[in-house]
Amino acid sequence: MTQFILFGGKGGVGKTTCAAATALKLSEEGDKILIASTDPAHSLSDSFEKKIGSREKEIFPNLWAVEINPKEEMQKLKEKLADAPEMPNMPGLPGMNPAEMLGGLSDMGSMPGMDEMAAFDLFLKYMDSEEYDYVIFDTAPTGHTLKFLSLPELMDSWVGKMIKFKLQVSNALNMFKQLLPFTEPKEDKSLENLEKMKARIEKGKLILTNPSKTNFVIVTIPQEMAISESVRAVKQLEEFGIPVKKIIVNQIQPEHKSCAFCTARRKLHKEKLNEIHKKFKKKQIVEVELSKDEIKGKKKLEEFARVLK
Ligand SMILES: Nc1ncnc2c1ncn2[C@@H]1O[C@H](COP(=O)(O)OP(=O)(O)OP(=O)(O)O)[C@@H](O)[C@H]1O
Ligand SMILES: [Mg+2]
Repeated sequence: MTQFILFGGKGGVGKTTCAAATALKLSEEGDKILIASTDPAHSLSDSFEKKIGSREKEIFPNLWAVEINPKEEMQKLKEKLADAPEMPNMPGLPGMNPAEMLGGLSDMGSMPGMDEMAAFDLFLKYMDSEEYDYVIFDTAPTGHTLKFLSLPELMDSWVGKMIKFKLQVSNALNMFKQLLPFTEPKEDKSLENLEKMKARIEKGKLILTNPSKTNFVIVTIPQEMAISESVRAVKQLEEFGIPVKKIIVNQIQPEHKSCAFCTARRKLHKEKLNEIHKKFKKKQIVEVELSKDEIKGKKKLEEFARVLK
């Protein structure tokens, strides 16, 4: 049974580092791991110091990685559709090339939340594969992407019923068209597709909200703004029924008695840590100090993973 670990948190706190270190450690313990990222900056490649592409690749024994760039994927889809035939003219609707229709979406690659959306899409893809023991996500879907989880309920609501009704009408229209000469018989699968999507999202929701299948880890730093954001993130996730068991507090100032600046910072960080412990009483809090080097490459990631434990 595949288990999922998702790492979420504010920019730059150490999500990629925590995800990479966890993936490496689990793979060394003998589990088959996939680590997936949709960060266009290719930070997984940098972290592992390995070239990773949009196809799953074994970068270390038992450790597979994939890095998807949402913008590139959108571009590929557009190119594929550029050769697609024109849609037939319909009364009141101009003939439109599917690529043109996508044209309006061309900026989507830079839209905020696009990488989380792509991560959610990847999650739906991998939830059915029993190929790996663990699938680890560097970019985790956040609040606004998780709104998709409400789709099944929405489809059952009156809005959804209206959409279904409209699709049924258009299916019926298509049936009529098939009876007429000179028109291409065309099967409309949209209703069926919508139902399939609903079923997939329902399944995704079951997996995401099952603590024995999914583990959502929040990474944060001992700083006021990051803490407030983590509180919001945990609240939002739990509203969707996704439990957060572990919080990693990264980049804590280490002790250097001879350095006044470091001592002051450490004192401040200790206060923030107290606050974090109070705010997240029931959660496992893992504390990680700031190290003098960047955490990059196998050796450093292995060291980092030992602290994470
Ligand atoms: N405990 C630490 N000590 C020293 N350097 C660290 C530590 N944790 C992370 N770093 C470094 O900080 C930088 C940011 O970390 P990372 O890329 O993991 O953050 P992120 O949350 O994934 O960022 P982004 O939001 O941009 O994806 C990296 O260069 C990483 O090596
Ligand atoms: Mg990152």
